Amino acid sequence: MLRKQGVGRKLSGARKRFPPAILAFFIQLVALGMVCGASKLQWWLEGEIFPVWGLFVMQGLFASALSVIAAMAVWWRLIHLFFPLAILVMLQWQLPAWIYLLAFCFTLALFWSTYRTQVPFYPSLPVTWRKVKELIPQDKSVKVLDIGSGMGGLVMYLARECPLSRCVGIELAPLPWLISVLLGTLKKSPAIFKYGDYQAVNLSEYDIVFAYLSPAAMPDLWHKAAQEMQAGSLLISYEFEIPGVPPKFQIQDRLDADAASIFVWEL
Ligand SMILES: C[S@@+](CC[C@H](N)C(=O)[O-])C[C@H]1O[C@@H](n2cnc3c(N)ncnc32)[C@H](O)[C@@H]1O
Repeated sequence: MLRKQGVGRKLSGARKRFPPAILAFFIQLVALGMVCGASKLQWWLEGEIFPVWGLFVMQGLFASALSVIAAMAVWWRLIHLFFPLAILVMLQWQLPAWIYLLAFCFTLALFWSTYRTQVPFYPSLPVTWRKVKELIPQDKSVKVLDIGSGMGGLVMYLARECPLSRCVGIELAPLPWLISVLLGTLKKSPAIFKYGDYQAVNLSEYDIVFAYLSPAAMPDLWHKAAQEMQAGSLLISYEFEIPGVPPKFQIQDRLDADAASIFVWEL
């Protein structure tokens, strides 16, 4: 029991030291070692080997259990469980190797530093853009920044609807950034798209900062905003709150009960 608690402590310590994707990689490796151990044992005891599908199921179960001990977020348990099974299915299809390389390059360009930032790409929708626009004064020029602007939909919309304002997006992943630049050029949008890490941007230059990131990014974002943003400026977050910092107000972007909110803090 004590030993089990020790392993649990070590694994949850690892959770604090490594980004989740790196920890997940090591968990799959350890699970692979456990599967090899279990197969050897089965061979010695019964003189038989497990069926191939059984090995993959076992890999998923071991990895998922280890992710519970390591206190990884709930969705990682499912990812660990189904990842080996997905490999098994893909192996049955016997796809040529270049398809995997292509899929890897595409995923890398789309998600880039997600393993570090824990903020994947997923776009907000026009229904949210319209609510954000209502927070931007129409009678004067303000500077608006979307940190993590993805494919630039929100920034181009705001640039079109708020012609007096300067609307800027900064994006770290190369593929969404490139798409935003191309779309902006094609649509002749006045939106400005910068490539880079918002952590390196001085937020004091902006009156309104919009973020659609992830729960993991919010504490650091608040720390940065509180240090840099000017009094009276607005920090807007779609869907994710800042733990322990109540917003000045929040807006529901749709009427249904499970719709996400837009949270607004005034610095
Ligand atoms: C959930 S998407 C939101 C996209 C866009 N703002 C929208 O509303 O459609 C978050 C984006 O933030 C980007 N991102 C994450 N961390 C970042 C960072 N440190 N600097 C710049 N972009 C970042 C991700 O690559 C991703 O495209």
